[in-house]
Amino acid sequence: MKIFVTRALPEIIKQSLANEGHIVSEWTEKRDLSPAELTDYSLANDALFSIGKNQIDKHFLTACSHLRVIALCSVGYDHVDVDEATKFGIPIGNTPGVLSKATADTAFLLIQNVARKAIYNHKEILRGNWGFFDPMANLGIELHGKTLGIYGLGRIGFELARSCRYAFDMPVIYYNRSHNERAEHELNARRVSFDELLQQSDVLSVHANLSEETEGIFDRHAFSKMKASSIFINTARGAIHNETDLQLALEEGQIWGAGLDVTHPEPMAPGNPLLAMPTVAILPHIGSATIETRMKMMQLTVENILAGLNGQRLPYCVNP
Ligand code: DGY
Repeated sequence: MKIFVTRALPEIIKQSLANEGHIVSEWTEKRDLSPAELTDYSLANDALFSIGKNQIDKHFLTACSHLRVIALCSVGYDHVDVDEATKFGIPIGNTPGVLSKATADTAFLLIQNVARKAIYNHKEILRGNWGFFDPMANLGIELHGKTLGIYGLGRIGFELARSCRYAFDMPVIYYNRSHNERAEHELNARRVSFDELLQQSDVLSVHANLSEETEGIFDRHAFSKMKASSIFINTARGAIHNETDLQLALEEGQIWGAGLDVTHPEPMAPGNPLLAMPTVAILPHIGSATIETRMKMMQLTVENILAGLNGQRLPYCVNP
């Protein structure tokens, strides 16, 4: 059968599909496919191996209802209309679990960067500003013993909580729909209300899916309840925070700093004022970008494609 891949694949991954007798075609241009191109290529294939944020909406699904499987090479599926795919009987696969550690490590990296203004100081050296020693210059915030607040304590949040607990002895509080018994038992984490999370966190890190409930939830009201010394971190989805409100909260000193691996829109414009702030660190959505993790994500995507083409239930399926 025929598989369309929205990026060039490493040879070993392509081979694992070809070894099963399938024909693989790849999108090799260094730009995203337009919706019309995605539809055209998908029409000529039986399966879609989707890397990147291709909009899988009602329009696309109606045109491509013949697809036997759509396998996303990501854990997030906020760019997919899963209900509509289910109506058409198209299974949607994702890659849960394998990127939890890498993404949590990115949040951990951002926390330390913001707390010690690392990226800003690096830029200062490039600007020729490493000069006279002033004991009260370049000061950051210590993390030891500070409270970590997690918004959405699933697999990624748990990994970050564990790193912060062991590295910096940080007490953990979290806001979640349900109790996370493992985090409570192993890390002594305490479930709190949303307001308590805002008021008590020294570092507040977002690990929730983008949904109607979470979109824009970190707005000026939320930032105004946080500590003036606090750090806001988002490695989940950029639309969960309101960027204009975040900028204002930083400018007005409602919070101390912010670390983002996700923005809305992406990519962020190079002239964005957040990029110039000393206590802000921004990364270009590299949460899962390690060699090991990206290979595992692609391997899970292959498993989903092969199962879908064989008419089996996908091992990592997001349809109900
Ligand atoms: C995911 O897998 O959802 C990550 O954000 C990478 O896109």
